[in-house]
Parts: sequence; C-alpha cells; structure tokens
Amino acid sequence: MRKEIILHDKTFKLYIDEYEIQKCIDKLAFELMNYYTNKQVILLPVLNGSFMFASDLMKQIIRDLEVSFVKVSSYKGNTQTSGRVDELIGLNTSVQGKHVVILEDIVDTGITVDKVISLLSTDNPASVEVCTLLFKPTAFLGKNPPRFVGRAIENKFVVGYGLDYNEMGRNLKEIYQLKEE
Ligand code: PRP
Repeated sequence: MRKEIILHDKTFKLYIDEYEIQKCIDKLAFELMNYYTNKQVILLPVLNGSFMFASDLMKQIIRDLEVSFVKVSSYKGNTQTSGRVDELIGLNTSVQGKHVVILEDIVDTGITVDKVISLLSTDNPASVEVCTLLFKPTAFLGKNPPRFVGRAIENKFVVGYGLDYNEMGRNLKEIYQLKEE
C-alpha cells in the first residue's frame, strides 16, 4: 500500500485504507438489511464512481434484491430556451412501488443525488433513500441528505476506490486525499 501517489500533476496522501473501507461497508450492509426487512428493494448505483463500492456492498447484503446501474446525463434541449436537460439513463425496470436505494461513492454538493431523485419521482417509488460511502457535510447544498453514510469526511478532494482525478485513480483499493503543499 502506497503512502503517497501522483496522479497527473497532483500528489495525494493515503486517507482511508482498504480495511477501513470494508468496515464502513459492513456497517452499511447491516443497516440496510435491518432497515428494509421484508421490503422490495432496488439498488441504483450511480455510475461511474460507485462501481467499486456498489460491487463490494451488494455482496454483503444477504437478501434478494434488484440492481440497476444508472447515470445522469445532461443534453442540450431542442428549443432555444430550454438549456441543458437532465436525463436518467440505464434504468431498465420500473421503480413503481419499490423501495429505492441510490448508491453513491460520494455525496459532495448533493446536486447529483437531487437530480436522480427528481427524475425518479415520476415513476412513483414507494420510498427513495441515499446510501453513500463518503459524505462531505460542509459541502452539502442539496435537498436530500443521505440516510446511510459510511463515513463523513472533510471538504477536501479525494480519489481512489472508484473516485477519479481526471479519470485516474479509480482502480485504487484505498482512498487518497489531495496533498496541499
Ligand atoms: C461524482 C460522484 C457523485 C458526484 C457527487 O461523480 O461519483 O456522483 O460526483 O458530487 P455532488 O454531490 O456534488 O453532485 P462525477 O460527476 O465526478 O462523475 P463520475 O462518477 O463519472 O466520476
């Protein structure tokens, strides 16, 4: 395990090791299993960053559930005034009447989660909650605070375990924090 890494032009220092991450995941899996006993659950990991967290978490959730990976994309509307329009892509089943758990690697400003929730609401899910590995409370500006949080962190840039810096670092088993000189 490296104590420091360089990605592109920046140096990062070890912040949360693999063991700590797996402890957070075990805690979250336990909380989810207790909270959703006998409920019809669908996990919606938000790509790209959540792929590693989602994979590890869902293996620890010992019950039957659905999984559908989603992504928020933003495209230019076709009228001059519409600006950019958000779209939820990848959802290949209805969430109507189901208990939705949005899985995020990190909730930062909360904008992504707010978009996903607003796009899902037209399909009338039974409930929607957010489960995130990392949460930055001091950066959060959103309407939907995560109910399930692996670990709250300070408002500094982090990479690894799915999170990237210009697409580098996603494959790291640990989470690294930007080193300020
Ligand atoms: C990251 C992360 C979350 C989002 C959180 O994704 O995976 O989805 O940012 O930030 P927010 O709370 O401020 O919206 P990003 O948009 O970088 O894309 P990626 O998952 O493809 O890396």
